Amino acid sequence: MLSILDNVLSAKQVQEVLTRVTEEGFEDGKATAGYRAKLVKDNQQQKKDAPGLAANRELILTQLRKHPGFRTAAYARTIRPILISRYRPGMQYGLHVDDPLMGGERKERTDVAMTLFLSAPDSYEGGELYFESPWGAQEIKLPAGSAVVYPASTLHRVNPVTKGERIAAVTWIQSYVRDPAQRELLAEIDRIRAHLHKSDPDAPETNLAFKAYSNLLRMWAES
Ligand code: NI
Repeated sequence: MLSILDNVLSAKQVQEVLTRVTEEGFEDGKATAGYRAKLVKDNQQQKKDAPGLAANRELILTQLRKHPGFRTAAYARTIRPILISRYRPGMQYGLHVDDPLMGGERKERTDVAMTLFLSAPDSYEGGELYFESPWGAQEIKLPAGSAVVYPASTLHRVNPVTKGERIAAVTWIQSYVRDPAQRELLAEIDRIRAHLHKSDPDAPETNLAFKAYSNLLRMWAES
């Protein structure tokens, strides 16, 4: 399941972030790619000590956590440090699957991936995030400030940028609920219980919906 999170950042916040993304501090994206992904990864990303990165990470993380759709899209337990990536004309990230474990000594499992689009979609050509699934292919290109959250287990790529510049923020999340199908069911029941809470707050079924949701989350969550 893909979840689109609209307006994680306001237009003003997107500008604020982009102003802090300066020429210094970018390195070849292959620096953090596994040996297979290195073959297909052709982009740039900011080094850990890039100027402005800490402030951008903090703002994006705060906004992401605040977004009403993020909770049930990810059931986030831990969130990896946010990366800022850049694709210039000719750059792309070919079909790959993300590393299942990331980090130093104590690695985190990457259950969920997130891409936050920062460049205005009409300012560059190409650069769509492309997914393959048993139900067919899907391409995503979102307005600046909006994000897509998807299972890190999917094969995906970033199409070649043919014009302009595509800047995005990406991160990976270890979820309390590692199975995407379970996360999807929980998100659906969460919607049902919220709806019942509004439309029929005193019905015994409303309590049952809350009970079913809580107990499924208790059954499936790993902490
Ligand atoms: Ni990827």
